[in-house]
Amino acid sequence: MIAVRPERPGEQDGVFAIHAAAFETDLEARLADRLRADGDVLLSLMALDGDEPVGNLILSLMHAQAEGEPLKAAAIGPIGVRPDRQGEGIGSALMRACIEWARGEGFAAIFLLGSPDYYGRFGFSAEAAAPFASPYAGPYFQALMLDDTFVVPKSGRADYAPAFAAFED
Ligand SMILES: CC(C)(COP(=O)(O)OP(=O)(O)OC[C@H]1O[C@@H](n2cnc3c(N)ncnc32)[C@H](O)[C@@H]1OP(=O)(O)O)[C@@H](O)C(=O)NCCC(=O)NCCS
Repeated sequence: MIAVRPERPGEQDGVFAIHAAAFETDLEARLADRLRADGDVLLSLMALDGDEPVGNLILSLMHAQAEGEPLKAAAIGPIGVRPDRQGEGIGSALMRACIEWARGEGFAAIFLLGSPDYYGRFGFSAEAAAPFASPYAGPYFQALMLDDTFVVPKSGRADYAPAFAAFED
């Protein structure tokens, strides 16, 4: 039985280990550490099997605007599940819990970078992100609008926390 809850003090090494194992390099694990050190983490969700951490998702602060008006936006990343536990629905449980939390906190949009095949199932699309200028613009840059009354802007901007600069090239 998988439980999802916010990261607790002392779990930083466990978060690092999950991402270092899930991804090919430790770049994402270091991103999680840097976001935390910079104070840009809005939510760090742990997935646990009993006492054992098996997955983690970080939601971080973004600076976004739509047609010049500030937009309350957050970014998912990294999200990782221990390789021996992938494909069991743990990533989906983390995604759903994060979206529910952001909706409850009044966020208007969540952005992320990743496979449209995977994130499309949670309602993310590249179309929703397309009006927002970003160094990551393209098919992997996706958004989910949480406010049903949101009108697609003609222009906008969505800037990740500084820790993500390591991924720009
Ligand atoms: C991506 C990840 C977080 C998903 O977590 P998970 O617990 O394995 O996912 P779930 O069990 O909820 O969902 C499994 C589904 O996701 C699909 N999936 C997993 N990784 C995927 C990827 N990188 N691209 C597309 N689909 C992917 C599986 O094919 C499976 O599809 P199905 O339901 O149609 O069979 C996890 O596989 C992971 O940590 N991968 C390595 C790190 C990574 O790539 N993180 C995301 C970066 S954008």
